Amino acid sequence: MSAVFVFTTYGGPEGQQLIEREAPAPRAGEIAIEVRAAGVNPADWKRREGAFGTRGRLPAAMGLEAAGVVTAVGEGVEDFAIGDEVLGAPARGLGAFAEHTVLDASATVAKPEEISFTDAAAIPVAGTTAYDLTHQVEIEAGQTLLVLGAGGGVGRMALQIAAVHELAAIGVASESKRELIEASGATFVPSGEGVAERMRALAPDGVDVLADLVGGDALRELAPLAKDPSLIVSAADATTAVELGGAGREQSEGVLGKITGVVQYGLVDPHVVETFPLSQAAEAIAMVESGHAHGKIVIIP
Ligand SMILES: NC(=O)c1ccc[n+]([C@@H]2O[C@H](COP(=O)([O-])OP(=O)(O)OC[C@H]3O[C@@H](n4cnc5c(N)ncnc54)[C@H](OP(=O)(O)O)[C@@H]3O)[C@@H](O)[C@H]2O)c1
Repeated sequence: MSAVFVFTTYGGPEGQQLIEREAPAPRAGEIAIEVRAAGVNPADWKRREGAFGTRGRLPAAMGLEAAGVVTAVGEGVEDFAIGDEVLGAPARGLGAFAEHTVLDASATVAKPEEISFTDAAAIPVAGTTAYDLTHQVEIEAGQTLLVLGAGGGVGRMALQIAAVHELAAIGVASESKRELIEASGATFVPSGEGVAERMRALAPDGVDVLADLVGGDALRELAPLAKDPSLIVSAADATTAVELGGAGREQSEGVLGKITGVVQYGLVDPHVVETFPLSQAAEAIAMVESGHAHGKIVIIP
């Protein structure tokens, strides 16, 4: 048997628990892994709360990004073999907060030696999102990229990608994230009351791209700073972004491999700030659910 962290009811964290299941076997096009690390994302608790629907089968395994070692390969899988170190997204809702899971081979890449399992586990969701947000709208060296929610798992990586492309990046986050933002070469702007005025003073002509990781009123308040509303892209709140004339995050092909390469060469650091054992998955999720984590939280089964 193999442990997996699940939610048993849609709603709050009280329905979460660690249960045992048979280690899942790979189907055609899939690979089974022993999970070495799993990244925690806001989508984990949002899914539990029913933000993406409440029709899925329960109990539902939690965790959307994992790194581990291949234990079995399904029919037709040619790119991976038993013993390979990989990272990717779990298939069929089988969850990443688990001792064993299954990945879609087509959404998996080899883990470079230079990247630890812990860092690798932050790439499939947070890393690819940061990459997409900074590439979705055309932007050139010297142009301005404003990242709203810059101190979180995705935002920090987005700022580092901006530095690689020599963009003039501005990170909006709470005061406690100042050092973190400035360390990535970006200009720090404190969030909260008066943020629009502070931004306007810093960028009177507006910004070339507004990458949003917060949504709602915080996005509405800063949206007028985008030189053109179509330059607003949001991973947090596609509805509001579209309402404002922008777009939600679009997932592009081959991004997992690209961002893994960028991390491998040390240009982007997933900035894992805390790890928890699988037995404390609830604490790890609660830390992300607080909305103010200082980087990525990772579960180590
Ligand atoms: N569409 C997708 O495929 C996709 C993929 C990944 C993530 N997402 C979404 O993107 C968002 C960010 O994800 P994440 O993993 O980076 O989350 P995270 O690590 O929890 O970071 C969220 C950050 O938002 C900041 N924040 C909250 N309110 C703010 C405000 N009013 N102004 C400025 N910053 C504020 C928090 O920082 P402070 O403590 O500084 O306030 C926190 O650092 C989430 O909504 C997530 O669901 C979507």
